[in-house]
Amino acid sequence: MKKPPSTIRPHQGKLAVLLPGMGAVATTFVAGAMLARRGLAKPIGSLTQMGTIRLGKRSEGRTPRIQEFVPLAPLDDLVFGGWDIFPENMLEAARHANVLEAKHLDPIADELAKVVPMKGAFYPEYVKRLHGTHVKQAKNKAELVEQLRQDIRDFIRDQGADRAVAVWCGSTEVYLEPTAVHQSVKSFEKGLLENDPAISSSQLYAWACIKERVPYANGAPNLSVDFPAVWELARELRVPLAGKDFKTGQTLMKTILAPGLKARQLGLAGWFSTNILGNRDGEVLDDPDNFKTKEVSKLGVIETILQPEKNPDLYGNIFHKVRIEYYPPRGDAKEGWDNLDIFGWLGYPMQIKVDFLCRDSILAAPIVLDLALLMDLAARADFRGTQEWLSFYFKSPMHAPEVYPEHDLFIQSMKLKNTLRWMKGESLITHLGNEYYD
Ligand SMILES: NC(=O)c1ccc[n+]([C@@H]2O[C@H](COP(=O)([O-])OP(=O)(O)OC[C@H]3O[C@@H](n4cnc5c(N)ncnc54)[C@H](O)[C@@H]3O)[C@@H](O)[C@H]2O)c1
Repeated sequence: MKKPPSTIRPHQGKLAVLLPGMGAVATTFVAGAMLARRGLAKPIGSLTQMGTIRLGKRSEGRTPRIQEFVPLAPLDDLVFGGWDIFPENMLEAARHANVLEAKHLDPIADELAKVVPMKGAFYPEYVKRLHGTHVKQAKNKAELVEQLRQDIRDFIRDQGADRAVAVWCGSTEVYLEPTAVHQSVKSFEKGLLENDPAISSSQLYAWACIKERVPYANGAPNLSVDFPAVWELARELRVPLAGKDFKTGQTLMKTILAPGLKARQLGLAGWFSTNILGNRDGEVLDDPDNFKTKEVSKLGVIETILQPEKNPDLYGNIFHKVRIEYYPPRGDAKEGWDNLDIFGWLGYPMQIKVDFLCRDSILAAPIVLDLALLMDLAARADFRGTQEWLSFYFKSPMHAPEVYPEHDLFIQSMKLKNTLRWMKGESLITHLGNEYYD
């Protein structure tokens, strides 16, 4: 194993948190961070703010808070900015999203209203349901990247920030697969100049951020930082990347339940998942091309956890289906139903039903915060490229081409915490002591 970094550069000054896409998730995150730093609400669901980490042997009794153990930027030092294709400031956008109540928006209304989106880089063919009015003009995609880079530099300067980190909170784009243009830095830069149609709007933000050495986490399933050209650029410029698609409602439940079934060697015949949601994300996902991107992101989870090829008797014939239905009356308060057909001893069938009345953005907001802080920490520890230890936060975790992604929430959690231990030169927790052999 490699040696841990000898030093993690300390946090200093202000950290700019840049959010491409200032809709329901982004506004819920920013409002929550503003409330939490004033002591007006608790950042529940955030590992960096609420979580602890055990160090050494259990007998040592060392369990600090994660934020005391690793040098994260404190909430007080965060400044928020970003882009959207609509001009509303964050207060207006939060009211429009209708996630947070007036009792939460009123105390921070002035501060929130000051966060005004920069004009977005937007080609409507990737998100057909939205008709953005607050968009940049340029002669080609290369020029748009340059404009975004200038925005980043201006924002850091105007806010007096020390550095920045970006978390994509924009819409899900139509399904795209990597093409020849995505294979190297050279081919991608040529594609930018030639307006290659395989380069979507979200890829422009990712490219601009990496060029500015801004760590980039992708909260949507978009093809933004998951192709060879971007890995090459990130390695060369020493920038951390993470993605993709925040793991929140139904997939969070899947990655909690499936490892349990597997651990107890219970069989699975089928898993049917359906959702109703009525926010703007739901409207975008109502388009079949955009839904396809989400579907691919959601479908990989069960097979990767259950490994049917290793256990065909239990998992060799699973029927897995995922649906999302746009249903405006529910707004952001999604309802996700799951039906699991499982079987036990001698093959006797049983069923599990899950009805999760969740709030999408309430589950996503702490993930945005943790990713911003941990990606910034990764950059200060000189980590670069895909940060697999942050798989914990994603539905479709990015991974090295030669390995499969890790979906099991408990393994992901172990991996994340062991990475923090390793970063600080603490021993990794394996649960193997010498009590059995002495
Ligand atoms: N909420 C969750 O639980 C959850 C979970 C996983 C992933 N996500 C993903 O997170 C993203 C945000 O979700 P949301 O509920 O906030 O959606 P939202 O529709 O409320 O917000 C997305 C915002 O992105 C903007 N946008 C679209 N294209 C843009 C561009 N090119 N440049 C700048 N802005 C652009 C839209 O105008 C909109 O304001 C979606 O892609 C969603 O699929 C959300």
